[in-house]
Amino acid sequence: MDIIIRPLSPFGAEVIGLDLDDPNALDAEARNALLAAWVEHGILLFRNALRSEAAHLRLSRVFGDPQPSAVSRINDAANPYLMTLNQRPGDASKETFTLFEIDGQRRTGWLGWHWDQSFTAEIVRGALLRMITPAKVDGRTGFIDAAAAYDRLAPAMQRRIEGLEVVYHFTAAQERNRFGFPRGLRVAQRNPKAEAALAQYRRDFPAVVHPLVITQHETGRKVLKLSPMHAQAVLGMDETESDALLHELADHLVDARFAYFHTWQADDGIVWDNWRTIHSATGVPFDVERLAQRTTLVGDYKLGRYLDPADGREGPRRRFDD
Ligand SMILES: [Fe+2]
Repeated sequence: MDIIIRPLSPFGAEVIGLDLDDPNALDAEARNALLAAWVEHGILLFRNALRSEAAHLRLSRVFGDPQPSAVSRINDAANPYLMTLNQRPGDASKETFTLFEIDGQRRTGWLGWHWDQSFTAEIVRGALLRMITPAKVDGRTGFIDAAAAYDRLAPAMQRRIEGLEVVYHFTAAQERNRFGFPRGLRVAQRNPKAEAALAQYRRDFPAVVHPLVITQHETGRKVLKLSPMHAQAVLGMDETESDALLHELADHLVDARFAYFHTWQADDGIVWDNWRTIHSATGVPFDVERLAQRTTLVGDYKLGRYLDPADGREGPRRRFDD
């Protein structure tokens, strides 16, 4: 059967016509078609198509080498290449559990816009999320194309930000992120242990630096490479000017008119290009169940570094992922 690539709105694409239960479906021709579509569209949706861990892992390997998930506590016990994202109804026992209030709605699992692991020097290539138990209420994942966001910048702003670098430092307490985050985000409930755990993560991950603009090497397109989550400042810029610039760029980047929000069904899979797109999670009400698994795919990034070169000698002492 021929593979059909059907664009999503406002960006991304759905892949139709692949039987991912079939171990032989991902032949060279299919792999080339998928990689070309990924480069063109940034995210690919496989609807109701990932019905097993084996299928999930087979498809992941088309887009990169899976690495063990970044947080040991959410590794799948039997397979560390699968990260388990699990919200059990009414369960506040996770160390970093937080119930947020956003626009009057209470949500756990809410995450602001980010690319994965911006608080480390090596940015992973992508990730493939497979939904096992979709939430009965909400639980959507949003995606924005940061290459298109760069193209929408005024030419004067494109020139201004060329060559600038941004300092990132771990800020998993979502309400403490400043740029491109909802002004009305509040903490309704938090595990009493969370404060200490989140502070420890900040110590474990020293500040890093990434370019504000990168180039998609397959196409030469430029990408507004800003992760609103964890962003602290433009390196070397006066604080007032840096804050104003990051607010302006982050607000531009997270414009919901240009976001694709996916409402998950069982066995849906989405693979995102983590160098070109940002994503967010709308979370679920406290009493709603949701279970997903994710693979993390490495690539050859090499554009980040530690702010203090001495921090790079031993590498991260602990791993975490948002
Ligand atoms: Fe993420």
